[in-house]
Amino acid sequence: MTTSNMPAHVGIIMDGNGRWAQHRNMARTQGHIEGLKAAKRIVKAASDMGISYLTFYTFSTENWKRTKEEVGFIMGLVKKYLMAEFDFYNENKIRIRFTGNLEGLPPDIAQEVMQVCDKTACFTGLSVILALNYGGRDEIVRAVRKITQKGIALSEITEDTLRQHLDNPDVPDPDLIIRTASELRSSNFLLWESAYSEFYFSDKLWPDWDEEDLKNAIISYKNRKRRFGGITA
Ligand code: IPE
Ligand code: IPE
Ligand code: MG
Repeated sequence: MTTSNMPAHVGIIMDGNGRWAQHRNMARTQGHIEGLKAAKRIVKAASDMGISYLTFYTFSTENWKRTKEEVGFIMGLVKKYLMAEFDFYNENKIRIRFTGNLEGLPPDIAQEVMQVCDKTACFTGLSVILALNYGGRDEIVRAVRKITQKGIALSEITEDTLRQHLDNPDVPDPDLIIRTASELRSSNFLLWESAYSEFYFSDKLWPDWDEEDLKNAIISYKNRKRRFGGITA
């Protein structure tokens, strides 16, 4: 694939872990294990392709509605594997970042996430942004609170003020958002940032995703005309 017109930032709504397992008469949790393997494959592929930012929708502010067992299992995976993959990050110069409501996470998980962010902050390759306990509406509400706390005058508040108080103001908006497993909705993912993102929907379940699938999504992206409200000649 040529490097021209590559998306700088790709967001992925990794969906279909539960269905993947159910189709095999396995527990939903097994689907999350396979989903994690897919995530690692896609991180490596994105890093090799020269993508700069990859945001993974890992756990939404709405996912607390699931059973205690499933929520505990997903948090357990974060705890068990996030730091354990440090050698992989080091080899590929992958930086881990975070977006979401840190205060709403179990303290040990929040600590784990902050540690891995600190330890990889010096890496200059692909940034993998973990959207964990993330909701687009929640991110906007937290931004508004930060603005209010600073006492910024109403007349001074612009779109840029809001952007500067989102979780990662230095990260460019996602150029491409991928959702797997046939669902055609955003489910509260990057609401502010996705205003002009291109969307790509795939019928494949997330645990089945591999490098070819990412390439196909990027080829689709490269063939689009982004107008941002303007007109093309
Ligand atoms: C996505 O897979 C992973 C998370 C939301 C944590 P699901 O668990 O939503 O899988 P389905 O949609 O039930 O198949
Ligand atoms: C979106 O998937 C959240 C993540 C992928 C983490 P869901 O499976 O939670 O979304 P809905 O419920 O189908 O909208
Ligand atoms: Mg789902």
